[in-house]
Amino acid sequence: MDLELRRAVPADFTALRAIAAAGGSPDGDDRYFAFVGSIGTLMVATVDRLVVGFAGVVPVRGSAMVSDLFVDPAHRAHGVGRRLLRSVLDDHASRLTFSSTHPAALRLYAEFGMVADERLVTMDGVAVGGSAPLMPGSWQHDRPEVIDHFRRSGAVITNHSVVRVGVGDVEVWRVDGHEPERALSDVIAAGAPGDRISLSMLESHPLVSWLQRQGFHETDHDIWCRTPSVTRTTMVSCVHRGLG
Ligand SMILES: CC(C)(COP(=O)(O)OP(=O)(O)OC[C@H]1O[C@@H](n2cnc3c(N)ncnc32)[C@H](O)[C@@H]1OP(=O)(O)O)[C@@H](O)C(=O)NCCC(=O)NCCS
Repeated sequence: MDLELRRAVPADFTALRAIAAAGGSPDGDDRYFAFVGSIGTLMVATVDRLVVGFAGVVPVRGSAMVSDLFVDPAHRAHGVGRRLLRSVLDDHASRLTFSSTHPAALRLYAEFGMVADERLVTMDGVAVGGSAPLMPGSWQHDRPEVIDHFRRSGAVITNHSVVRVGVGDVEVWRVDGHEPERALSDVIAAGAPGDRISLSMLESHPLVSWLQRQGFHETDHDIWCRTPSVTRTTMVSCVHRGLG
């Protein structure tokens, strides 16, 4: 197999969407791919000029976070994933990812020094309504470029939360600050009664039991993998599974 690696260009995005969907991630979009390539690195692997896989990393507080790693099912188990990971991680000693429970991915992450730490749990609950819709505020925390991307993707940015309100469903993409329960109480009250609310956080976070008391339950999980140099921040509670 004559494998070549290069940076992704917009003309690749249709192929990336299809490969991600085949790998169980149907929600990739052009804006997301362009964003990963602009703030981090997005590499594609090709065979005879055909895209067969891709990997992305984005910067998170001095570390490189693997946002994406996908290989077309027909080309797996030939070392493509390993070559891709090397190409995006070689310049970074401090590494982490929230992506995937796939056994081959976990094996590769460990090979690159990222050891499985704890689960990132996704929980679902319902909005109760009763207050006005969320109003945009002034984001009080770090990673402004990621917050800008979320805003351009249609999310409402408040002082401490990033929330995408869809039709019948609400995704919380980030909650930061000392009072996550307060930020989430606002989200639960702002949604239309019965709308599904979905959010992800580390399993050990005290917010998990608070959410259970609000009727939320676990629907999915990923595994947080990291090099020992990556420390956890107590300020961030909810994260976006791809971008952190
Ligand atoms: C994870 C993924 C990218 C790996 O790509 P790949 O090209 O097959 O990976 P490689 O061939 O470079 O290496 C995979 C390693 O894991 C091993 N492996 C493959 N399947 C495995 C399994 N089910 N259990 C354990 N190890 C496995 C391979 O044998 C190989 O190790 P080896 O070279 O020592 O034999 C690919 O499986 C994939 O796209 N999965 C679905 C999407 C996903 O979950 N991505 C991760 C997060 S976004």
